[in-house]
Amino acid sequence: MPIRTPPPTTAPATTTAPAQSPVANPSDKPARKPAKAPAKRPAKSEAVKAKGEPTAARARAKKSATPKAVTGPATRSAAKPIPPGRFITLEGGEGAGKSTQLRRLLARLKAAGIDAIGTREPGGSTGAEIIRHLILSGAAKPLGPLAEATLFAAARADHLDATIRPALTRGAWVVCDRFADSTRVYQGALGNVDPRLIAALEEVTVGETRPDLTLILDLPAEEGLARAAARSGRDADRFESEGLSFHRALRDAFRALAASEPGRCVLIDASGDVDGVEEAIWKAVSTHLKPPAPRRRRRL
Ligand SMILES: Nc1ncnc2c1ncn2[C@@H]1O[C@H](COP(=O)(O)OP(=O)(O)O)[C@@H](O)[C@H]1O
Ligand SMILES: [Mg+2]
Repeated sequence: MPIRTPPPTTAPATTTAPAQSPVANPSDKPARKPAKAPAKRPAKSEAVKAKGEPTAARARAKKSATPKAVTGPATRSAAKPIPPGRFITLEGGEGAGKSTQLRRLLARLKAAGIDAIGTREPGGSTGAEIIRHLILSGAAKPLGPLAEATLFAAARADHLDATIRPALTRGAWVVCDRFADSTRVYQGALGNVDPRLIAALEEVTVGETRPDLTLILDLPAEEGLARAAARSGRDADRFESEGLSFHRALRDAFRALAASEPGRCVLIDASGDVDGVEEAIWKAVSTHLKPPAPRRRRRL
């Protein structure tokens, strides 16, 4: 089955899609400054600190807690550990508003003083963008869902290694337009790729870098397709070109996925206006990940 990490339906530059340079949002250069700590943390070991924290953060903290041989004076990083970043993914059908809301969420995070990058799948790194073209042009479609699934996995592996993990390691927050859940839904639920294969590919590509929070934008398929059609800038891609029954099944599969992992997934009603959806997303992020309050301007 095709592992289908649905295309960030947005065309580069011209549409609302998160522009991606090899790395992330084209319009949002990956921040290079060290991230600010989302919150003060107790002076315990990283592994202890990570208890009860979001999945990706916990895994990263556990890793950094591994004792290392002391061969000299303590390094700066040993004295002041980098706060783990957070990994947020946006999922949902075509035209649900993922790319639009990614930009808005990034702006909110940055306003809160957080080092954050936006990225997308398939793509988000030099190698993965090449594979993106292969998938979304439809060139790989005749090979079947299994081949597409494998291509998505290869693209995801490069994206994680080149973009996502380095950002999380430096303490940045990563917001990704589609990720492994799209593969589960498009290639797994709809493409009938063996779930054991989907799980195995996810295990070797994603491993411990699982999203801390997944926002699933929910919208009737007809509305999403109408929005996508009205969006200017490019023709429908490989997956947007599927029929209405496909997109209805897609919505059902995303809803089922949200219900199956309530700790990580939040279903967002995407039928309201852009501002209302942005508020709902910010509320979910605030509740689950507790970003610092936006910085206030000091009075002079
Ligand atoms: N809440 C909304 N209400 C109305 N139109 C929207 C809303 N969110 C996004 N749009 C518009 O719908 C189109 C698809 O949005 P987009 O963010 O590209 O969706 P996706 O990335 O999920 O495919 C764009 O033209 C966008 O401006
Ligand atoms: Mg998009």
